[in-house]
Amino acid sequence: MANLSTSYMGLQLKNPIIVSSSGLSNSIENLKKMEAANAGAIVLKSIFEEQIMMEADKFIDSTDPSLSAMKKGFNDILTNRSYDYVEAMDYMSNFAKEHSLKEYLNFISLAKKSVNIPIIASINCVSAYDWSFFAKRIQEAGADALELNLYILPSDINKTAANYDEMYKKIISDVKKYVSIPISLKLSYYSSSLVNTFVDLSKSGISGMVLFNKPYNPDINIDKIEISSGRIYSSADEYLRTLRWTAILSGRVGCDMAASTGVHNYETVVKLILAGSNAVQVASLLYEKGIEEINTLVNGLNKWMDEHNFKYIDEFRGKLSQINIENPAVLERVQFMKSYAQIV
Ligand SMILES: Cc1cc2nc3c(=O)[nH]c(=O)nc-3n(C[C@H](O)[C@H](O)[C@H](O)COP(=O)(O)O)c2cc1C
Repeated sequence: MANLSTSYMGLQLKNPIIVSSSGLSNSIENLKKMEAANAGAIVLKSIFEEQIMMEADKFIDSTDPSLSAMKKGFNDILTNRSYDYVEAMDYMSNFAKEHSLKEYLNFISLAKKSVNIPIIASINCVSAYDWSFFAKRIQEAGADALELNLYILPSDINKTAANYDEMYKKIISDVKKYVSIPISLKLSYYSSSLVNTFVDLSKSGISGMVLFNKPYNPDINIDKIEISSGRIYSSADEYLRTLRWTAILSGRVGCDMAASTGVHNYETVVKLILAGSNAVQVASLLYEKGIEEINTLVNGLNKWMDEHNFKYIDEFRGKLSQINIENPAVLERVQFMKSYAQIV
């Protein structure tokens, strides 16, 4: 029996399978099921920066001059943000109406009392407006770590890549003023110089990065001739993008990495660890096949390690990362050209 324990952001996990943030981690009953199914840690459903701004006056002194700036910031966000994004829609329609920030904080405390595995709170944010004070409340409520889902689509024609990088750094430094628990960034792959940006961000005070958030992709309905929503759940081959960038970043970043998107079987878990991730996150699989699937991933990983005589995760983690393989080009374009040339 292999030892599946791993360290992620300084948290000791009994195995590398982390439940991703989603509506599934929004009830104590489900958290207990996740623990029973052997999850290594759980990321709670995100709260959105909009809600923090909306309820800011309940949490800070209303005579505070920053409040009006915050309110203005909130209105700006409401005007600019696209609510097409599935997480925002899901959250705004189901959760925000029924729950307040206070309830989110109570939920964190209750979650900590209900399960023994690490609980990672999550904030979904799109701007560097001054919502970061709320991170302190999350820490006080007992969260073991905080994941920041920075969904910033670099679509503004007036902003350079450097402008976006600065925005990330400002958010990190603002949040770090309020908390001492580990912070991770959940990033999208929309970056003009991904490796340079991510290595830089990994050294700006965070303890982990989650690669990648699955962006909402609009589609077109040709019968109605209108924009429609793309697929919400990932498919089993969507891990390939994560695999490549994890392998390229492994050993170069200054923090831990959790691989996310497209984890649907234990083979993918093994591959992502071989590429260099400390842990993997999973959501769609649990929606489609049930929370018990965590056990299938854990057992599969265990069996594979036994078959390959690995006692510890660290014996094979990063073995196939770019810095550890003989021909680093296989992770880049050269191999792509070779593969296509073989198909006649
Ligand atoms: C219904 C649903 C709700 C989600 N809600 C959140 C959320 O609140 N915060 C967040 O960071 N990610 C959210 N996600 C994204 C997942 O955490 C995950 O990053 C994404 O689904 C890719 O992983 P997967 O391939 O295992 O599904 C959600 C995903 C789904 C399918």
